[in-house]
Parts: sequence; structure tokens; C-alpha cells
Amino acid sequence: MEEKNLEALLEEDRQFIPSEEFHKNALIQSADIYEQGQSLGFWEEQAKQLSWLSPWEKTLEWNPPFAQWFVGGKLNASANCLDRHLHNWHRNKAAIIFEGENGDSQVLTYQDLHREVSKFANVLKANGVNKGDRVTIYLPMIPEAVISMLACARLGAPHSVVFGGFSSEALRDRVIDAQAKVVITSDGSFRRGNTIPLKDNTDIALDGVDCVEHVFVIQRTKQTVQMKENRDLWYHEEMAKASPVCPAEPMDAEDMLFILYTSGTTGKPKGVVHTTGGYMVGVSTTHRWVFDLKEEDVYWCTADVGWITGHSYIVYGPLANGATVLMYEGSPDYPNRDRFWEIVEKYKVTILYTAPTAIRTFMKWGPQYPQSRDLSSLRLLGSVGEPINPEAWMWYYKYIGGERCPIVDTWWQTETGMIMMTPLPGITSLKPGSCTVPFPGVRIEVVDSAGHPVPKGSGGYLAIKEPWPAMLRNIYGDPARFERTYFGNWPGVYFPGDGAKWDKDGYFWILGRVDDVINVSGHRIGTMEVESALVDHPSVAEAAVIGKNHEVKGQALACFVTLKEGIEITPDLENELKKHVAKKIGALARPDDIFFTAELPKTRSGKIMRRLLRDIAEGRAIGDTTTLADASVVNTLKANYQE
Ligand code: WT7
Repeated sequence: MEEKNLEALLEEDRQFIPSEEFHKNALIQSADIYEQGQSLGFWEEQAKQLSWLSPWEKTLEWNPPFAQWFVGGKLNASANCLDRHLHNWHRNKAAIIFEGENGDSQVLTYQDLHREVSKFANVLKANGVNKGDRVTIYLPMIPEAVISMLACARLGAPHSVVFGGFSSEALRDRVIDAQAKVVITSDGSFRRGNTIPLKDNTDIALDGVDCVEHVFVIQRTKQTVQMKENRDLWYHEEMAKASPVCPAEPMDAEDMLFILYTSGTTGKPKGVVHTTGGYMVGVSTTHRWVFDLKEEDVYWCTADVGWITGHSYIVYGPLANGATVLMYEGSPDYPNRDRFWEIVEKYKVTILYTAPTAIRTFMKWGPQYPQSRDLSSLRLLGSVGEPINPEAWMWYYKYIGGERCPIVDTWWQTETGMIMMTPLPGITSLKPGSCTVPFPGVRIEVVDSAGHPVPKGSGGYLAIKEPWPAMLRNIYGDPARFERTYFGNWPGVYFPGDGAKWDKDGYFWILGRVDDVINVSGHRIGTMEVESALVDHPSVAEAAVIGKNHEVKGQALACFVTLKEGIEITPDLENELKKHVAKKIGALARPDDIFFTAELPKTRSGKIMRRLLRDIAEGRAIGDTTTLADASVVNTLKANYQE
């Protein structure tokens, strides 16, 4: 978002106050909760909502940058999501309502899910998976993805879910980094009526990788796959033999629950480590209060389980709360552009949690699609992944929410594990474009580079001042990088990498990343990753990648590329490079623009000045060029640049 839009926003000050009706039925009706959040006792209270096998001895042990929560406590995440819901009528409640892209559907009650998870945990155990072993999951959005995650949690085997849209190379890097013993995949996945060959990708990824002992293959598309002898096993065959009785492993609150890889400022993705106790407390509390969860809700989060949103708000938060979770496999325009609204109508969805990029896409398609369906079941809307521009907010409010549903704009990250800034829908006045205020028990400020809070009404860096239960504990295998990346700026204070402003009411307005991370359609992509993929191509000498404003995606990847001596620029080359990046990383990283140039603007010390490239790509006046080695480079670039 551009600065000047934000200034306009801050002056505009439109507010939406919760309706009397919503307020009086809400789980949280009083702002006293923020007072309560100021003591550690607050998180202890919330922790008591979970079922523990042994109580904790100490709520928080904080040796910056390392935190331990609920020290000495024992619990199991899978048991909290399943077993404790089986004692009464609740066992027959729908846990997952699955809608396949091709229209097939399936309902799993809590009892069903418990049985399938227990069986698969037994299968994994019988094939050598023990507490502490890592398991990589590379699956489409099908119930087996949730079953696999919870089966791992049941055994205490940390999972590492790799988004099904990632390439075989990306999968390979993540399998190796985690030293996974097992990979769980499917024959393929459906996408807009086509299939993506996940098993073939897995075979390529695992070529020469010796840590993996078994690959479990779930049958989804029924396409032909090669099964490698002694390594590969069909899920359905093993499940047919498995016992449905599998006690959950007692886990220490600080035992690892999962690793999830995310992009950072270097080429190598970071394995973000989350542990069991604090994470479960954080995600269950936030899920309950932010979404004002009621027993009868049908809750739909449109994220993929391959991202943190899927982990926290499709799997662990909602299931710990005993919610009914809708899970959709496919894309929003298959077979038609009203697919989401057809699903809302069909299942009478009450809570919808989606991303600004999706909302902007729907805006572009036009209101006739939601208008042709009955959306009156909806009562609450959520947004996540990137700043939501007020125009998109208003459209979402009007055409999807029928001007009746509050919108919770939730700011958080893979690393925070749980929602950190958000309205509480029964009490918070909403301002379109602002994620409002920190969740109770969370302390966030906007600070200057020295770490001092800036006055209200000004901008700076976001800083999280105190530890919170669902915070990442480490970067897998790289504690030095963990400390440097997140706690390197101000001692004991977490730096999320975002710029922000707070207004006179203390509402937060996110300005976007201030590091070399680009947010494309709510997905985090490191400029370095794309640059490495580009220079990996035999024709490319150098590459600089920037994020430029994009109407639908928020940001788009624009790449400035210099070619090796003697290589000619041909119309095919641009496409070839885009394909190359998609193949190296995944379709989500396919560049929007590739611009060939003879030279890149560099400082005298040889650093590429991406800021100037952004000015060029977004058609702005070029900023300060005094530190450039050769100022003419940028003028030539500007003169030649076309979209
Ligand atoms: C980055 C984290 C949290 C799950 C999805 C993305 C941006 C996220 C918002 C929001 C403005 C947001 C931030 C953050 N972001 N939510 N509501 N308003 N920006 O997780 O891939 O870890 O990315 O997404 O820049 O740092 P992620």
C-alpha cells in the first residue's frame, strides 16, 4: 500500500460499530478482557480450557530469545482435537465437511476423525515412525491431510507440511532440511479440472535422498503412478489392516509439534518450529474469540493446510474447539465463478475466513456471482494474509456480508503461530483497512529504529514487546539465524519485518514488509529465492527481483535481468525464464514481468539498489541516486522500461 493512500485512510476515519444484536450474543462482550490480558494469569486461565495429562509448574520461562511456556506440563494436541470431544453427543457432530473440486463430498464426525487418525497413527508406528521423527506431508486439500497431521501429532512425530503447489525441488530442500523419515503424498491433486502429479513430483524430489524410508500414497485422482518397492505404500491398503485403537503419546508442552517452512531474506527457507502447549493455547483461544465461535457454526477457512493459516485455523484451533470445519479442495472459479458462494449456500456457512487477494478477484468478477446465491447464513467474515485495502473491505462487507457481518482483519505470521492483532467482533469498532488492536495478552508497539515507541499518528516498525504462547521457538537447526532474524534489532523484542502506523486511537495500519520479502496474493516469497532461481538459468548473468503494486495480488514479482555475454533477447526467453522460476519454486513464484537490461543500478560497493527498481516499476519519480556507482544506468533503465 502506498503511503499517500494510508494518509488518506488515517484521515478518513470511517467506523463500523458492532450491532447491538451481535454484541449481546458475542462470547466477548466487555473490553475488560484487555485489562485481564496484562497479567500472565490470563494465559493460565486460557490454558485450563485444554485437557492436560500433567499440569505445568511454571507459566513462562523467558530467557530471550528463548521462551518456554507451561513448563513441565504434558498434553497431546491430537487428543485435544479429538478424544476430549468424544464423551457426549459431540462425538456425532461434524468435524470436517469436505467438498471436493469435482463435487464429491464427505462428512467426518469427531468419532470418524478420531478413528481414522488413530488408524493412521498405528500405520505410521508400524512403519517405524517414533516420537521425534519428522514426517513431510505433501497433499492436496483433502481430509487425509488433516488425518495425517493429527496422526503425526498423536505419535509426537513433528510434521512438516509442504504446500501441494510447491515444485519437486522445493519439496526436496524441505525433506532434506527436516531429515524426514516418511513422506505422505497422493497420486495427484485436482486443479481446475486438471491434475497435478504429486507422486511424480515426490519421486523426483526423493531421487538420491536417503533419509526417507517410506512414502505413503493416498489415492485421489486415480492417475497412474510408479510405486517403488520396499519404499512406497498405498494408504488405503495399510489403513484396511490397521487397528483403530492408538493411545495418544504424552508430550511435553515444549515438545515440537511441527515445522513449517517460510521464506526469509536469504535464498534458504526457514523451518519455523512450533511446540505443543503454548501453540495449542494460543490458537484455540484466538479461534474461539476472534471468530466468536458457537456450537452450531459452520466455519470455513479457505486457506490451504500447507500454510500456517491452515495449520492454526483449519486444523488445530477449530478442532481443539470442537468446531465444524468446512474444507474445500479446489479453486474459486471451478466449474464457475460462483463456486465459493455455491458452497456457502449449500452448507449454510456462518463464518468465512479468506484473503484480500481472493476478495479483489471476486470484485473484478463482479457482484452478480455472490448475488445469485443465498448468503444469509453468514454472520462473521475474516481477512488474513496481507493488508486489505478499504475498497476491498467495503466490497466484502456489502456484497458478501450483506452489511450485517463484522469483518475481522487479522494480522499475524507463520512465526507468531496465532492471530496477534484483530478486532474482537462483539466489542471492537472496525475501521476498514486497519487490523485494529493487539489481542488480549499480546503487546505490540510501533517503534523507531532504536526501538522506542513513536507518537500515535506516526509510522515505524512493528515490534512485539513480550513473548506470547504460540510464538515460534526456533528455526529448525539454526538457532543463530533465529536470534539474528527476529531478535537482532532490539534485545528481547521480536521484530516481525513489517512496517506500520498507529493512529490517535491506537489502531494499527500495516504498511507491509520492510525486508526483502514480497507478499504475492498473501504468499510470502523471498526476493533472493527468485533471484537464485533466475541466475540458475544458463542464459542469466544477474537478476534483481522486486515487488510492485498489483491490483489483485497486492504485490507482483517484477524481475530485472541481465544476460550472459552473447545471449540474445528473444520473445521466447522471457517465457522460458518465467517457466524456469515456476519449475524451481512452484507456480506461486512465477514472475509477472521480466525486464531485460544491460546493467543493474548498483552502489559503489556493488549492492543492487532495489528501491530504485521499485520506483521505475511503479512509475514514480526516481529517489536519491547519489550513492550509485553509475547514475546513468538508472536513467537508461527508466527510459527503456515498459510494462
Ligand atoms: C506476513 C506474514 C498470517 C497467515 C498468512 C500469512 C502479512 C498477514 C496481514 C494483515 C496486513 C498482513 C504481514 C506479515 N500479513 N496478515 N491482516 N494485514 N498484513 O503468513 O506467510 O507468515 O506472512 O503477511 O506482512 O508479516 P506469512
